[in-house]
Amino acid sequence: MSILEKICVTDTRNLVSVTLSPSSAINIVHGVNGSGKTSLLEAIYLLGTARSFRSSKVKPVIRQGRDDCTVFGTVLTGDKLWALGVSRSRDNSCRIHINGDSARLSSKLASVLPVQVINSDTFRLLEGSPKDRRQFLDWGVFHMEHRFLNAWQRAQKAMKQRNALLRHGKMADSLLDVWNTELIQSGEEIDGYRRSYFEALKPVFEETLGQLSDLTDIQISYTRGWDKESGLCDVLERSLKRDIESGYTHWGPHRADIRIKHQSVAAVDSLSRGQQKAVVCALKLAQGRLFSQSRMFGCVYLIDDLPSELDREHRLKLCRMLRNMKAQVFITCVEPEALAEAWGADKSVKMFHVEHGVIVEDLLSKAGH
Ligand SMILES: Nc1ncnc2c1ncn2[C@@H]1O[C@H](COP(=O)(O)OP(=O)(O)O)[C@@H](O)[C@H]1O
Ligand SMILES: [Mg+2]
Repeated sequence: MSILEKICVTDTRNLVSVTLSPSSAINIVHGVNGSGKTSLLEAIYLLGTARSFRSSKVKPVIRQGRDDCTVFGTVLTGDKLWALGVSRSRDNSCRIHINGDSARLSSKLASVLPVQVINSDTFRLLEGSPKDRRQFLDWGVFHMEHRFLNAWQRAQKAMKQRNALLRHGKMADSLLDVWNTELIQSGEEIDGYRRSYFEALKPVFEETLGQLSDLTDIQISYTRGWDKESGLCDVLERSLKRDIESGYTHWGPHRADIRIKHQSVAAVDSLSRGQQKAVVCALKLAQGRLFSQSRMFGCVYLIDDLPSELDREHRLKLCRMLRNMKAQVFITCVEPEALAEAWGADKSVKMFHVEHGVIVEDLLSKAGH
């Protein structure tokens, strides 16, 4: 598995200078509201993606009065040790270092430190837009299929060019043909990768959900973004008139989605909040389980406020599941007691107390419980 062995955070939100040596298994990060728990998860996410999960802008993440925030970490994947460094500045620049060399692409970071977040935004898998579910799906496809990124980039470019032509009205057919061909090829390729990933994910999700809750009758299905009976080529041809009228491409891989239903009704309209949390956690955990089956290493889980929405029984089930995943996990909570009973005297659990941006390992509670 990918294990973050050490992390140094500078000027990230209220974390001025924090150094931690986490457990390779479970890490519980506790403290009152506003102490800096989510900021620590955000810093780890920054190290794996060069982005924040809380804000699309980088400025709010940088400590007030500072010009940049920096996160360093050492990561063990299998028997390889990596030194990662990410620095983001107010002028929006981004510096990434991997083993001393500067890297241009954040996708390199993701392959060394794959991170999965579970927080209140994870409910968007049910209540959000298709884009949220596509991002979820594509995280998995990206990590399982190395040709996916290239196909995805080609489709993005073809779509942009095609839409620009549609909007300009006066189009040369030959130019439209070029981008149609590119979109059809890359779109069909993407659909193939997404479909085979989804087929692998579905049974793992069902098994995971069965371990997390006694919900039955949850169905998930994949839709590719165009008519399932027709090739993308025919679909583009049939919708050309409408595409020209509206100035954009109606059908294609950019419309793919995952449908999540409970007894044939959209899960978001029929499940309680706690049941929804079980479903979204099962999706995320299934993705991590599938990931670690195909790799020498598993992904790192960042779980913000694990106890929220879950009653004791479901909390315990989720904790048990996390330990069995053999993944490195960072969990935040306000009251550590809510989780202590799940792990008892487990020596691989480390507890950290956060207060005003200062994080201290809780050695006493480890020895005492
Ligand atoms: N850019 C920033 N600079 C300094 N402090 C910040 C910045 N952004 C947020 N904060 C402060 O950081 C603190 C920690 O926030 P957070 O990590 O969300 O707390 P919590 O422990 O509740 O998860 C909050 O008090 C917040 O006001
Ligand atoms: Mg928080």
